[in-house]
This record gives sequence, C-alpha cells and structure tokens, in this order.
Amino acid sequence: MRYSAEKSKFSVTHDGSLFARMRRVDCFAESTMTTRTFLCPPTFYDVTYSINPYMDPSVKVDRVLAWRQWVRFVDALERRGLDLQFIEPRDGCPDMVFLGDAGLVLGDRFLCSRFRHRERQPEADHYTRAFADLGYQVIQPPSPAVLEGLGDVTIWGNRAILGYGQRSDRAGFDAFRRFAPFVDVIAEVELPDPRFYHLATAIAFLDEDTIIYYPDAFTRSGRSQIERAVGRRIAVSERDILDHQACNCLVLGDTVMMDGCSSGLERQLAGCGFRVETYPMSEFKKGGGSLRCLVLPALSEPVHATLEIAS
Ligand code: ARG
Repeated sequence: MRYSAEKSKFSVTHDGSLFARMRRVDCFAESTMTTRTFLCPPTFYDVTYSINPYMDPSVKVDRVLAWRQWVRFVDALERRGLDLQFIEPRDGCPDMVFLGDAGLVLGDRFLCSRFRHRERQPEADHYTRAFADLGYQVIQPPSPAVLEGLGDVTIWGNRAILGYGQRSDRAGFDAFRRFAPFVDVIAEVELPDPRFYHLATAIAFLDEDTIIYYPDAFTRSGRSQIERAVGRRIAVSERDILDHQACNCLVLGDTVMMDGCSSGLERQLAGCGFRVETYPMSEFKKGGGSLRCLVLPALSEPVHATLEIAS
C-alpha cells in the first residue's frame, strides 16, 4: 500500500502527558495486481462496421488468430495473479471484446457506458444484465450523456485524465465524477483528431506521475494541462502509434505490456525503469484497439486508515 500525500483529516487529542495526533489518510493499492479484472472473449469479434478510421469491413479478421492473441494475453494476466472475471459475449455485438469501454467498476458499483454510436449501443443492455447478475449495483449515466468507460477515462489511483470530443462528453464526465468523487481530475482534454477517437489511444499512466503519450493527439491547451499535471512524460513517435498503438498499453508493476514498440521507445521506457513485454494484437488493431481496451480492471478504492503518531 502507498499513502497519498493528501492528509484529509487532522485532529489532536490530549491524554494528560502525551499528545497523540490522529490523521486519516487515503491509501491506494500499489498497482493493478490482484485487482479484479473483467474481460470478454472474442467469440463474436469481427469488423462488420466502421466507427473509427482503423475499421475497414473489407479487411478480414483472422478469427483463429484473434483467439490465439487474446488467449496468450489473458494467460499472462492470469500468471501475474490478476483476479479475472469473464463477461459473456453476445452475437451481434462484435466490439464487446473491447471490454475496457464497457463502463467503470468501483467497489460493488458499476457505472455502465452510454455509447455514442448506435452500433455499440446494444452492448449496454448486456453489460447492465451481466454486472447486475454478478451482484453489482448498476448506475446509468443520464440520457443524453455519453461515456465510454476506460476508453475516455485514464486513471491511476485517485488521479484521472478525461478525454472528450470524439466519443464521451462533458455530461458523461459529470456522471463519472458523481460515481467516483474521490478522484482528482488532473486534466480534461479535447481529442480533435479522429485517429485518437478514445483517450486510451493517446495516453496511459505508467505510474502515478509518469505517462506515455502522443502529444500531437491533443490541442495545445490539452497538452499543457497534461504537462502541468504530470511530472514525467514519455512522448511516443507517430511510428509507434501507427504500427503498435503504443499508448494502448497495460502496466503491471514495472512491466509494460503492449502490441510492440520501436527500439527507441523500449530504451526510453527502460530509462524510466520499465521493461516491455509484447503481445501481438494485429487482429484487434483492425478494430481500432489494442490490449489496453481488452481489459476492464476495477478502480482502486481509497481505504481510509487512521495513523497514530505520538509526538
Ligand atoms: N471498434 C471499437 C470502437 O470503435 C474499438 C474500441 C477500442 N477501445 C479503445 N478504448 N480504443 O469503439
């Protein structure tokens, strides 16, 4: 466990000879390890429509290869001790495999996504039912808000960056803020370029104060918000985006899991103490996503602890 710098309450008691200072601090789990993580198998995955510039229904998805890629990645998550939970895929919802977009999970509550495109809207009913069956209290953003889960909410501990302009909107973010009021939104940035239709295609936290990002995906004001809020930033080249969707990565401890990356990026990451593990995602990139979009880890809840410090 790591303690946040925020000391949210402070009180002083006096027992005659000794002062005990009690303070309540918010703690967060160190990383996503052992975190409950939801996935949806690629049983019905395909590219049958186009709602982002990467999707071309005339390019065939190799369904067998998609399964192999997905299974290899999921095996690695299991070996690392994540608590995996599978959501049943549904025929007619080919994008359900990108479960990271399904919503946000916090404690026993699930904030279900409201999708912008009618092609993905039917997924919401399936998620509502699936999470209710698992015992979660399901919350819906009010219509006409749009919120596409971790697709547009990039989060580490209690720090979040939100992205709007292509899919999610400000009303969706209001629903998110009500759902997770402890979260400090350090930047709310516009995504002007349709190639970066989700925030998760353009930025990821590597730790609390480190990000990997593609600066040109943002407006000048968005970029400066990010640069003011995050101390250590690794800028990715256009090649690493086009070839590998490099910002769509998953961090477990000091390992960055990604589709692939250039030797330059690998060196930069090594310089910051991270090692790269590659999980080729060719078939999922045809749908516009990479491995980060395949997983929906529950958000870490702040744990209120009381520290007693005798002085
Ligand atoms: N075809 C899906 C869509 O356009 C891909 C979503 C991938 N998820 C992501 N967070 N980028 O919605």
